[in-house]
Amino acid sequence: MIKKALITGVAGQDGRHLAKLLDKKGYQVFGTLRGQLEASHPRYQGVQRDMPFLKIMIADSLDLSALTRAVKEIKPDEVYNLAAISHVGYSFHNPLLTADVTAKGVLNILEAIRLAGLQDKTRFYQASTSEMFGGLEYNRPDQGYDESAAFHPRSPYGVAKLYGYWITRNYRESYGMYATNGILFNHEGENRGPEFVTRKISLAVARIKAGDQEYLELGNLDAKRDWGYAGDYVEGMWRILQQDQPEDYVLATGETHSVRDFCNLAFQVIGLTITWKGEGEDEVGLDQDGIMRIKINSEYYRPAEVDLLLGDPSKAEQKLGWSRHTSFGDLVKLMVDKDLERLSAS
Ligand code: GDD
Repeated sequence: MIKKALITGVAGQDGRHLAKLLDKKGYQVFGTLRGQLEASHPRYQGVQRDMPFLKIMIADSLDLSALTRAVKEIKPDEVYNLAAISHVGYSFHNPLLTADVTAKGVLNILEAIRLAGLQDKTRFYQASTSEMFGGLEYNRPDQGYDESAAFHPRSPYGVAKLYGYWITRNYRESYGMYATNGILFNHEGENRGPEFVTRKISLAVARIKAGDQEYLELGNLDAKRDWGYAGDYVEGMWRILQQDQPEDYVLATGETHSVRDFCNLAFQVIGLTITWKGEGEDEVGLDQDGIMRIKINSEYYRPAEVDLLLGDPSKAEQKLGWSRHTSFGDLVKLMVDKDLERLSAS
């Protein structure tokens, strides 16, 4: 029997990596898009071109009836709930929408599975996040956050995701569903949206190399993240759903690097060495010829910041046999190289 998987938010970075992985593993892959899309719509066609094997369903995470119809029709063996408002900065400006989509959307898809009578068949993966830890209870500074670390979300996004985490656990405990959380630390790559800092940097570096841009504006350079490659993480998502018992897992690299580190390495790829001068909002990054390549724009500061994220993936390593393959340096290079290639092809 061919297994069927449904991915909500299939057009996002992780959705695309995961759909391709599941297709390779022999699944029939379904994915939701939202909006008033017909098969002739450019967005629909773009997704279909990228993933010709994909069966596209139109269903918004806010619409329980559309989700229920999709789940009833497909009867998926596995559902991966990746649909969300995922930009932390945006969530401060749109907190209510974030709560509806990122929190209540999880409940909608869980309910859709129950309403379709599939709670004993369908395995459920919730895209939980390290942004649920976020705050001050950094209780294992040397080893990083694991599955038992205390939560302290620092944004409307993190708070909404915490609801998604708990409702997933609650459905596991209440109804015996195979419902799991993957608590993923930052994962980046060539498909990352330009609103996230890594892609913003890789794109700017490529444009600077091409002479299309002179400098890049950033917010908090000292924020530290546990950055891995998204292509490695989707294998972990799949493994989480292949275990005998449903459990929650942290996926991370176990290393942390600052935004500043990411900039240094990214500019090195195009032969520029950055020297940092000044402090706070006046800090700038100069190249070896003294040309300003990075400056601070306080618009990119957040009302509350997660200063440091470091994950402890020991449980995933031991129980899932999962670990990341791509190093931090390789990730930065891969992203800059891809943007250089795209720019020279355009
Ligand atoms: N986006 C952005 N733009 N971030 C900046 C900038 C800027 O110009 N300058 C500095 N930063 C800092 C942010 O303040 C943050 O501390 C860090 O760079 C990373 O920001 P993002 O790339 O936007 O990602 P994130 O860590 O907030 O959230 C991502 O990772 C989470 C997992 O920990 C997202 O993918 C979330 O959806 C995900 O849950």
